[in-house]
Amino acid sequence: MVGSKGRGSNMAALALACHDPEFPAEIVTVISPKDETPAVERARSIGLEVEIASTKEPGYEELLTVLLVHYRVEWICLAGLMTKLPSNLVETYAGRILNIHPALLPKFGGKGMYGMHVHEAVIAAGEVESGCSVHIVTEEYDEGPVVLQKHCPVFRDDTPESLAVRVLGLENAAYPEALRMVIEGSQVGN
Ligand code: GRF
Repeated sequence: MVGSKGRGSNMAALALACHDPEFPAEIVTVISPKDETPAVERARSIGLEVEIASTKEPGYEELLTVLLVHYRVEWICLAGLMTKLPSNLVETYAGRILNIHPALLPKFGGKGMYGMHVHEAVIAAGEVESGCSVHIVTEEYDEGPVVLQKHCPVFRDDTPESLAVRVLGLENAAYPEALRMVIEGSQVGN
């Protein structure tokens, strides 16, 4: 599921990984709260199925449930979604919803910590290291268990924008790796 403000780079990275026949997943659909966003355009341009489910519509929760059943979704990957998922969904998919965050959680996470705000806060705190975290989604923002983190330095002359570029490169590598880890981990002993 992508957000309305993102570029869709993590979705594209996951799609690329899924092209590998050895990768244990495929993208069955991309769900976006808005049509004609960069992420939606990107999804369509690489031939992915797109569904629009507006968080503002009264039937949002029901529509999501219908879509997830229709596409037989087993795992949900969030990338840039700005709103919390309905609690019933978080419960139904417990342990099978991933999110990616552009910092080393538990630092610089929580409500209001998104986009450039995260990198601004990292620089303001004088951190010498940042990175990204892929984590399991729970009811609270950015609080679920971390699956994988990747680290990078923060340079003295970094701006939030230059740091964001460095972290995004890590994110695009980390997300497919983390998805593989959780899927293969969940299959152990089955
Ligand atoms: C990423 O920085 C991710 O960490 C955050 O939202 C952004 C989405 O970027 N949750 P993209 O749309 O995947 O390029």
